[in-house]
Amino acid sequence: MPDLGALTATPAQPVRVLMVCLGNICRSPSAQGVLEQRLQQAGLQRCVHVDSAGTGDYHIGKPPDERAQQHAARRGIDLSRQRARQLGRRDFDDFDLVLVMDEANERDASALCPPGQRHKLRRLTDFCTRHSASAVPDPYYGGAAGFEAALDLIEDACDGLLAALRPATAGC
Ligand code: 4NP
Repeated sequence: MPDLGALTATPAQPVRVLMVCLGNICRSPSAQGVLEQRLQQAGLQRCVHVDSAGTGDYHIGKPPDERAQQHAARRGIDLSRQRARQLGRRDFDDFDLVLVMDEANERDASALCPPGQRHKLRRLTDFCTRHSASAVPDPYYGGAAGFEAALDLIEDACDGLLAALRPATAGC
């Protein structure tokens, strides 16, 4: 499990996690919703702040893709209040962890990342414990199975991430 080092959460200064994909309408809103659900269930919602963004600008201001909303809703996760926004350089100052879904996201996010902040950039799948995967594949151009597979990986990774955040949230 990746070591989250010296992160320390308090209600006044929660750990800040940003989920990043390409469009910010399928994978990263789903990851935000899943992590928020896990935090709520663990009573840690005031200790970890979650947001999401896309490397692309195609869908700024739009709600998550209807399919992503439907598949998430079947797992008890509501994405309807989220709106897409684009990743910016400032996000690397504002967040403690910037978690990308795939290689293209990593390349695009890296290009925006100031040199001193590279340690914040990780693949979400680094936190998987039940699946062996190095990316959450883009479900946008596929069917229902792609959305289910993405959610399976995202749920696994968010459970692992919550476990990795336990030391940081222990005193919160
Ligand atoms: P996401 O999926 O990166 O998981 O939000 C995509 C959504 C839209 C597009 C690509 C990927 N698009 O090309 O419009």
